[in-house]
Amino acid sequence: MKVKINGETENVLALWREGHIVKMVDQRKLPHSFEIITLENHRETAKAIKTMVTRGAGAIGNAAAFGMAQAALEAENKPLDEFIEYINNASETIRKTRPTAANLFKAVDKCLEAGGWGNVSVRVDGIVKRADEILKQDMKASKEIAIAGNKLIEDGFKILTHCNAGALAYVDHGTALAPIREAVKEGKDVFVWVDETRPRCQGARITAWELEQEGIPYALIADNAAGHYMQKGEVDMVIVGADRIAVNGDTANKIGTYEKAVVAMENKIPFWVAAPGMTFDLDITSGAEIEIEEREPEEVSMMWGQGEDGKPTRIRIAAEGTKVRNPAFDVTPYKYLDGFITEYGLIQRPFNEGIRWVFGQPGLLPWFKYR
Ligand code: MRU
Repeated sequence: MKVKINGETENVLALWREGHIVKMVDQRKLPHSFEIITLENHRETAKAIKTMVTRGAGAIGNAAAFGMAQAALEAENKPLDEFIEYINNASETIRKTRPTAANLFKAVDKCLEAGGWGNVSVRVDGIVKRADEILKQDMKASKEIAIAGNKLIEDGFKILTHCNAGALAYVDHGTALAPIREAVKEGKDVFVWVDETRPRCQGARITAWELEQEGIPYALIADNAAGHYMQKGEVDMVIVGADRIAVNGDTANKIGTYEKAVVAMENKIPFWVAAPGMTFDLDITSGAEIEIEEREPEEVSMMWGQGEDGKPTRIRIAAEGTKVRNPAFDVTPYKYLDGFITEYGLIQRPFNEGIRWVFGQPGLLPWFKYR
């Protein structure tokens, strides 16, 4: 992702590993300041996932894998039995950070699998290499999603997106924003409607910032304005990301996605989900089995922003003591989706046989290895 820092354009990843240290863009500070945070051990990395220093299904998958690599390096001088116990405890700490995104759990499992045999040094090596591989594979998949999704975008399209499914959520082009970046690169005239995405405002704070950095035309809108523009014929398609997709195609994504999908169908607007194989959960048959994270009430009753003094400020919106519910995600039933944009190409309606069947096509088999 290109970022302008002090007038210079630099290429920055959402997160990376330097030996036993993990570095990540502090997404809580965007767009008002661009800061890189340093995490010294797996506990700090787990806390960074939980407190949303980094966020987005792909990025938290990478953070989880890096946390596992840190744990392996922290325990490299322990006897084998203590090493195994340390790694298992670390994996539990990381699993408990955020429940919804499939990528996080798959990344932990893949690291455990890679460190599941041999002496301590072989296991450390296996886990660290696997963590780095996941990042590399995600970067490749992100580009492939960009190319596959670009085929759906026509010159002059106005595209609505929800939350942030950009380079900060999935290295290095994003999921939902990847095809848009590719279309613009090809010279297509594309405009993006950015839902603000209450309560944490990932659209307002992160997607708008990413698009501004890349010079892609956009307008930020209140969540409630999306239906209005759809009804007026000012939205040609919707592309969102995903946190977990069930075998039948039911898709968990940021709270508010379901509403957008229903209104899109009412207005005959194509609704696409861009997501890599890592986000598909073949162990669950429908969205009813997806655990929806519930976050703290203050995200709804209060709001973060920049004060007039330029410092981060939190203001209260609802009266103190107001009762709040704050689900972070919702599930969009597959019937509202036109299809999925994946690194293996497009998966289009009808999904009668289930996603499992579609991924079972010969050309798509590598995904099974990737689970
Ligand atoms: O709570 P967040 O900010 O982690 O939620 C992020 C989203 O819902 C994204 O749309 C989703 O992770 C897809 S981006 C890879």
